[in-house]
Amino acid sequence: MTMKSYPKQRNRAVPQLFRGLNEQRNRNDRTTRRQRTIFLLILLISVIGMTLRNYLFLGDMGFGDISSSSSSSSSILHIDRRSWCERVRVARDALQLPFLHIKYPCETMEPATSAIVCMITDGTTEEKASRVVFTARDYINGALALGASLKGNIDPSRTHQLLLLREGFELETDDVIRLESVGWTMGTAPDFPIQQKHLPTFPRYKTTYTKVTAIGLSEYKCVMLMDADTLAVGDLREVMKCDTVFRNPKNNRVAGTIDWYQMRWKLFNTGSILWKTSSTEMERVFNLTKDNSFMKRYSSDQDFLNNVYPDRLNNSTFNNEIVALDTVESRSSSTSSGSSGKSSSNSIILKGLDPVIPHIEAQNGAVVPLSWDYNAQTHAEVQNFKFWDEHRSTTKILHFTEKKGWQCEKRYDPIPKGTYPQRCKRKVRDPLCFCGEAHLYWIALQKAEKSYAMKSLTLSKASSVDKSRLKDK
Ligand SMILES: *[C@@H]1O[C@H](CO)[C@@H](O)[C@H](O)[C@H]1NC(C)=O
Ligand SMILES: *[C@@H]1O[C@H](CO)[C@@H](O)[C@H](O)[C@H]1NC(C)=O
Ligand SMILES: *[C@@H]1O[C@H](CO)[C@@H](O)[C@H](O)[C@H]1NC(C)=O
Repeated sequence: MTMKSYPKQRNRAVPQLFRGLNEQRNRNDRTTRRQRTIFLLILLISVIGMTLRNYLFLGDMGFGDISSSSSSSSSILHIDRRSWCERVRVARDALQLPFLHIKYPCETMEPATSAIVCMITDGTTEEKASRVVFTARDYINGALALGASLKGNIDPSRTHQLLLLREGFELETDDVIRLESVGWTMGTAPDFPIQQKHLPTFPRYKTTYTKVTAIGLSEYKCVMLMDADTLAVGDLREVMKCDTVFRNPKNNRVAGTIDWYQMRWKLFNTGSILWKTSSTEMERVFNLTKDNSFMKRYSSDQDFLNNVYPDRLNNSTFNNEIVALDTVESRSSSTSSGSSGKSSSNSIILKGLDPVIPHIEAQNGAVVPLSWDYNAQTHAEVQNFKFWDEHRSTTKILHFTEKKGWQCEKRYDPIPKGTYPQRCKRKVRDPLCFCGEAHLYWIALQKAEKSYAMKSLTLSKASSVDKSRLKDK
């Protein structure tokens, strides 16, 4: 109260002590204002929570099923919900092998065109964790950071977020709430059965064949499969429209970025990959794993898929041609003129850069040449710096290939220029090597924890019953 008498204006003449008090008062003002804002926010959340609960209760009582209640918005929601489940059912029925079915709770979902799909297929105990096999905790944190990074970069009314756990993989309730708070709908992906003798030897890759099952999600036009070591750092709305990428429906199967593989351009990388979904294609690929003239012990799902679709397998001249066209200049000029005149691609007018590299022959193949922007592999920041640097400003998806975000020290700002170690190529020993983008992982993870804190608040305010779910922390 006495503080009021202190001079409001700060000037040099004010003694240090006064200035300190003055600052403190300002801070106090801000604090009370912030407290008031938080209080109002909590109030708002409680009201929303109560409304939601009432709606759900009415639903339980069968209110939503009464077809004559035409005016209420809840019945409109109900019709939409049923239609999405219906589409999922049709898609699963088309996939004749029930053990390859992906499952998720469709009841609460609105219809969408596409989905971002992340799968957690493996995780060992903390003790066995090493550089090659990560812990379940690492993957969960990876999925949390990825989920948080998608916010603002996708249109949730067109694109779902599915986090699929491999059958048998269990999560604690708390982690489920965490993951849901960053937008994931949780579901299960089936084990993809292959013969023991064909299992990859590299431990982390033993369960990754499961990722192939995403091809069967034909309730969507396309799905972007993103590994838990990827992060969205730019807008994905354009690529998630699907038609903007698959312009030759007869030939196109998948869209992938070329891998910087052992110091040359080879293979498409499957860490972040856009699938044109198809039940029949899923089944054909599954059949290939049973075909002894084709199947062998591939080193990973990436190796396997590059043999199923060999567009980037052998021809390095072709691969180099494609990469040479992955420039801002060629991708911006290609957006309006498009490819062949006859096709429907004329109607595709893109804003900004074309996600697809304008190499006509490649575009008409099975593997659509997706720009580096959609799978920027962080080992290139060390092993192909010039290329990395030229493409960094347009990058939309980071893929932590050599070192994962969680393997790098926790920091929230970039490693200062000049501090980055000079010799990383062979010696990965220096803790900063391959960690130039890792702060973005830690920032996203922090964002996820904030979403979780908000969600916990909602849950505890909206329903006292729900409190018991949070207890077992
Ligand atoms: C997969 O194999 C089964 C059994 O041989 C066959 O009935 C089915 O038509 C095949 N599916 C495709 C898409 O090739
Ligand atoms: C790629 O090259 C290998 C070895 O030269 C050959 O066996 C294979 O048939 C080629 N594959 C394709 C799809 O061209
Ligand atoms: C490899 O790609 C180049 C460039 O597109 C092409 O001219 C050549 O015929 C291809 N080679 C093979 C063996 O397909």
